[in-house]
Amino acid sequence: MKGMVFTEFMEMVEDVFSVDILEDIIEKSELPNSGAYTAVGTYDHQEIVRMTDNLSQAVGIPVPTILEVFGKHLFGRFSQRYPTFFEGITDPFEFLKNIDNYIHVEVKKLYPDAELPRFHHEQKSTNQLTMYYLSSRHFEDLAVGLVIGCLAHFNTDGKVVKTEGVYQGENVIKIDITLK
Ligand code: HEM
Repeated sequence: MKGMVFTEFMEMVEDVFSVDILEDIIEKSELPNSGAYTAVGTYDHQEIVRMTDNLSQAVGIPVPTILEVFGKHLFGRFSQRYPTFFEGITDPFEFLKNIDNYIHVEVKKLYPDAELPRFHHEQKSTNQLTMYYLSSRHFEDLAVGLVIGCLAHFNTDGKVVKTEGVYQGENVIKIDITLK
């Protein structure tokens, strides 16, 4: 996983919790490089899984909630870091439908070693979109947080529900988004 995800995670821990908690989880997670990440480097995604587990234990918040909070934070950072992906986009569904066939494609060109999830989508009506998430890394709670961050970015209110499902014969995680 790209170092940027790690540096953003650590920044979120320091901002939302404290520097002491950050130091504590770095130590407990037995990171090969003692928690020194560079944004462009690539690291084992299990390291962030360990940090998330240790943070969950330290603060008593379930892992899925931590990943959701992190996803929301990360979306805010993406919007500052990659403004071109937002040009001319006025609503969250238009943006979300661009991830798989445009945004993540461009990300892969920038960072060929990036490990990205796949998404299929089905828009059922003007206020209902289903995203089907496929990834061996199972960061679906991060995806939910990113979707929540996306809705907030476009000043829209909505409900995001995650369930297990099947899409064209493959096991997937279904993310149903209903706008108010
Ligand atoms: C400007 C918007 C976005 C950019 C620039 C972006 C870029 C990235 C990057 C750099 C990674 C890390 C890849 C790696 O570490 O190897 C990533 C992973 C990921 N992205 Fe995006 N992303 C964006 C929006 C979204 C949104 C809105 C979603 C939610 C539907 C999403 C879902 C994910 C997930 C879940 C991962 C973790 C990897 C996995 O699940 O396998 N991304 N993205």
